[in-house]
Amino acid sequence: MPYAQGTPCGAEKGKVLPLRVEKWFQGNARDLPWRRRRTAYGTVVSEFMLQQTQVVRVCDAWRKFLRRFPSVASLARARERDVLAAWAGLGYYRRARHLHAAARAMMALHRGHVPRTRHELEALPGVGPYCAGAIASIAFGQREAIVDGNVARVMMRVHGRAVDLTKGAGKRWVWKRAQEYVDAARDPSHANEGLMELGATICTPRLPRCEECPLNALCSARRMQRQHHIPKAKVAPMRTRVHRAAILAVSAGWMAQRVLPAGGLWAGLPFPPMEESGRRLSASMVAARMGVDAGALDRCGSFVFQTSHREVHFVVWRLDTRVARHLRQAGRDGWFWRRVGSVTDAPSTGAVRRILQCGGTLPLLR
Ligand code: ADE
Repeated sequence: MPYAQGTPCGAEKGKVLPLRVEKWFQGNARDLPWRRRRTAYGTVVSEFMLQQTQVVRVCDAWRKFLRRFPSVASLARARERDVLAAWAGLGYYRRARHLHAAARAMMALHRGHVPRTRHELEALPGVGPYCAGAIASIAFGQREAIVDGNVARVMMRVHGRAVDLTKGAGKRWVWKRAQEYVDAARDPSHANEGLMELGATICTPRLPRCEECPLNALCSARRMQRQHHIPKAKVAPMRTRVHRAAILAVSAGWMAQRVLPAGGLWAGLPFPPMEESGRRLSASMVAARMGVDAGALDRCGSFVFQTSHREVHFVVWRLDTRVARHLRQAGRDGWFWRRVGSVTDAPSTGAVRRILQCGGTLPLLR
C-alpha cells in the first residue's frame, strides 16, 4: 500500500521518528523520581527495578532503596539480606542479588563509578543488552540502541511488521530498527527514554491511543488499521502447579522462620516454615513431614500465587502454640524466631504477606 503524500517511508521514516519522539517526550514525560535529578547510579537502580515491574510499583521502592543505599559503595558494603529486604514487594529477587553483585563489581573494576560503555556495562552481573543500552544512552547520552517490550511494539507498529521476538531473525530486525532510530536522534537519552515512555503510556498493547501519538502520521499499522493485531498475541505461558503448606508457628510473640534454600523459588528469603509437594498435602501429611501430631495443626486459609513459571497453591496452617513453644525451646534445624511484629511490618515478599493475611484473622497475630 502506498504511503500518503508527504508521509516519509523506509530510511526517511527512520530519521523523522526520533525527532518527533524527543519533542513529544519534552512535554509529556511522567514525573518519575529518578528523572528529577538524573544520576548514573540512580539510573542503574531504576533500570534494574523496571525490568519486570511496572513504573507505579517501582517509584516508592526506588526512593526507599536510594535512601537506604545512596551510592554504589554503600550498596556494595551491604549484607545480602538487607538488600533483599530493601527489594521487598518488587518480586524477581534475582535482580536484587545481581544489582548487589554489580555494585561490588563496580567497586572492584571501576572505582565505584558506573561504567559508560555498552561493553563494560554488559560485563556487570545482571546487565543484558537491554539494560546496558538503557544505562549507556539514558545516563551517558551514548548512541546505543535499546529493545524492551515497549520499544519492540512501537517499532513493529510504526513499520507495520509483526516479527517473532522469540526468533533470531525477529530480534535482529527490531535491534536494527532501534539502532537506526538512535543513530538519527538529536539526544539519544531523550529519544530512547521517550520511546519507552510512548510504548508505556500511548502505544499500549491493548488500547493504543493513536489520536494522541506523535508518530500517528508515520505509523504503518495505523494506516492499515492493524494496530490491534501487531504484535501478534502471545500464547499464555505454561505454569507448573506446586503445592506448599505454610506453617504459622507462634510462641509468646515469636514466629518461626526459615530462609529458603538456594536455587529454588524465593531463594534466600525468610518465610514461615513450609512443606512442598507436587500434590495437595492433607493435615496428616503435613504433620507427618514435620514430626508433629495432626491435631496440632489448624487450617486457617489458602490462596494461589502466580509467578512467571509456577502456580503455587498455598495452604496455611496454624501450629498449636504449646507445640510451637516446645519447638522453640528444643530448637529445630534451619528454624529461627523473629518477633511477630517485625515479620508482619515488613513481609519479605507478596507471598509472605498473603500467608500472614490468612493468619491475620486469628488472635495470635493481633
Ligand atoms: N521502562 C524501563 N525503563 C524505563 C524508563 N527509563 N522510562 C520509562 N519506562 C521504562
